[in-house]
Amino acid sequence: MTTDKDNPAPAWSNEDLRGNPHQAQDKAGRVRRMFDSIAGRYDLNNRLHSFGRDQSWRRSAVAMAEVGPMDRVLDVACGTGDLTLALARKKPASILGVDFSSEMLAVAHRKGASVKLADLTPTPEFKQGDAMNLELDDASCTVVTIAFGIRNVLDPARAIAEFHRVLAPGGRLVILEFSQPSNRLVRFGSDLYNKRIMPLTATLLSGDRSGAYRYLPRSMETFASAEELACVMTDCGFQDTRHQPLTFGVCTLTCGIKPAGHGPS
Ligand SMILES: C[S@@+](CC[C@H](N)C(=O)[O-])C[C@H]1O[C@@H](n2cnc3c(N)ncnc32)[C@H](O)[C@@H]1O
Repeated sequence: MTTDKDNPAPAWSNEDLRGNPHQAQDKAGRVRRMFDSIAGRYDLNNRLHSFGRDQSWRRSAVAMAEVGPMDRVLDVACGTGDLTLALARKKPASILGVDFSSEMLAVAHRKGASVKLADLTPTPEFKQGDAMNLELDDASCTVVTIAFGIRNVLDPARAIAEFHRVLAPGGRLVILEFSQPSNRLVRFGSDLYNKRIMPLTATLLSGDRSGAYRYLPRSMETFASAEELACVMTDCGFQDTRHQPLTFGVCTLTCGIKPAGHGPS
């Protein structure tokens, strides 16, 4: 796999971001390179730039997933493992985090190893893999989660179909993603922050040269709404989709169920 060290060009130039980054043919390679390059400061940037809210958004995702001791949980695009570890604290039967960025996974491994084993049984596993082509059997999971990941996947519909395939009938998919607040004043403040302030401060803090924090607001404004995402989930066979806006709609949780009696697809 190509790493940032092999390719010194920014993953996203200003020119690239004038268009829609989701339509870039080589989006997957650019996204992987970008996350490989920012992995070291990713958590710190998240905490600071969400004003400490990011972990509470992940806890809301865990609550929506209703994880119990019998669950086999898959956290896709797990990155540095924050959601995976929060899910693991619910002590499911098994918990696996998958991501395609080796540098993000390296941080996840370190964090997993530093948590007291007694606190996390079973120990979360982390593996490199692609959300659109999971190396897992049909119906092998009961919960699939993805936090701030679906926007970054090359073909979100293909990934959601893949989540449906690996879920057992009755299984839940929980998607946490940024969204556009419906209140115009909140939206104005959030746009100002995301487009003008955060790209400067986050780039400075991480010493980033990949363009990650200019890609972030552009990828948010050009991505599907929570309602459109729910329609894709319905098209892929999920039922009972519901939303939960968080922090004035800055993020939204979307949950859907793979209907019981539905065989592998
Ligand atoms: C914004 S980070 C989110 C990480 C983590 N879920 C969190 O809550 O902080 C997005 C992650 O999606 C991963 N990603 C993007 N496309 C992917 C794909 N096709 N397969 C696996 N991981 C992918 C990136 O490597 C990155 O770690």
